[in-house]
Amino acid sequence: MAKRIAVIPGDGIGPEVIAAGMRILERLNDARGLGLEFVHFGWNADQYLRTGISMPPGAMDDIRNNYAAVYLGAFGDPRVPDMKHAADILLGMRFQLDLYVNYRPVKLLHDALCPLKGKNRQHVDFVIFRENTEGAYVGMGGNFKKGTAEEIAVQEDVSTRKGVERIIRYAFEFAKARGRKSVCMSDKNNVMRFGGDLWLRTFKEVARGYPEIEHFHMFVDALTMQMVRAPEMFDVIVTNNMFGDIVTDLGAALQGGLGMAASGNIHPGRVSLFEPIHGSAPKYAGKDVSNPIGAILTAGMMLEYLGHSAEAAMIERAVVGAIEAGETTKDIGGNVGTKAAGEAVLQRLNLKA
Ligand code: IPM
Ligand code: MN
Repeated sequence: MAKRIAVIPGDGIGPEVIAAGMRILERLNDARGLGLEFVHFGWNADQYLRTGISMPPGAMDDIRNNYAAVYLGAFGDPRVPDMKHAADILLGMRFQLDLYVNYRPVKLLHDALCPLKGKNRQHVDFVIFRENTEGAYVGMGGNFKKGTAEEIAVQEDVSTRKGVERIIRYAFEFAKARGRKSVCMSDKNNVMRFGGDLWLRTFKEVARGYPEIEHFHMFVDALTMQMVRAPEMFDVIVTNNMFGDIVTDLGAALQGGLGMAASGNIHPGRVSLFEPIHGSAPKYAGKDVSNPIGAILTAGMMLEYLGHSAEAAMIERAVVGAIEAGETTKDIGGNVGTKAAGEAVLQRLNLKA
């Protein structure tokens, strides 16, 4: 039976970069008999503004029950300042599908793309696991005396033993499976004593089950410094939702910029969601200037999740080839548009027409 993939291009540059990724996915699907069936969904700001509906009733259950993966572009539109549709759709899927692992590799594919002095591919190759279902993203809190001089705002940062343990365990399992040397847990437990205490205790307990893997803790402010100063000290980093959001943008910069970075929102064994890290970049939308590589590598990550690691490796090699040939968008030094940059990767898959 075909595995169904929900394709949600979203807003801004989402449709362009997803189109580039889809060209590659469809060709691989045909040429290599992957047995995938792609179903497109037009949920985005336009549709939300027109109909008032972000995601139709029943859609979440449909995705949960009938799909193997979701391939998503980006959400965000200046006409929806409260990001209601993005919260419903993207954060909605992360929470309601319980996609607790946000997997964000930081892998430099070409030395020329490294922004750090004296560093190359050997120095920038680690992964960040961001907890994806709790923390500051739960939306707990409120305002009191709103709009007055005495206004109070409370925004909670929620950690549960179950949530913390499963993401930390996933990080160690990943390190073990991939032969990675160490796991670094990063937080701010010198200030956030309660949540930090839970994270640190859990980290130490879980680490005991993996004596062959080194483990260390680093405050997140120090982590940002070390990611720039000595990225080679990291193999696997695990952190909470908000810190993970922040440090993975830095991680993207280490790979050549936001246009290069891929991510997976995963619940092992269940439908999982794959999206480039970059946002919708409304001012570049429709201009054929956005880098499609983040979306293309994301397609590769999705194939790997679906058990097609050979094809994922083919995609990465083809991306490296396109970068070496300079057939890329301007942000990483080339001079072609989104479409041509996508085709440059497609050609290098060396599939028969
Ligand atoms: C990300 C994004 C999202 C996040 C936004 C769009 C809600 O920045 O995926 O990193 O904060 O998680
Ligand atoms: Mn982010």
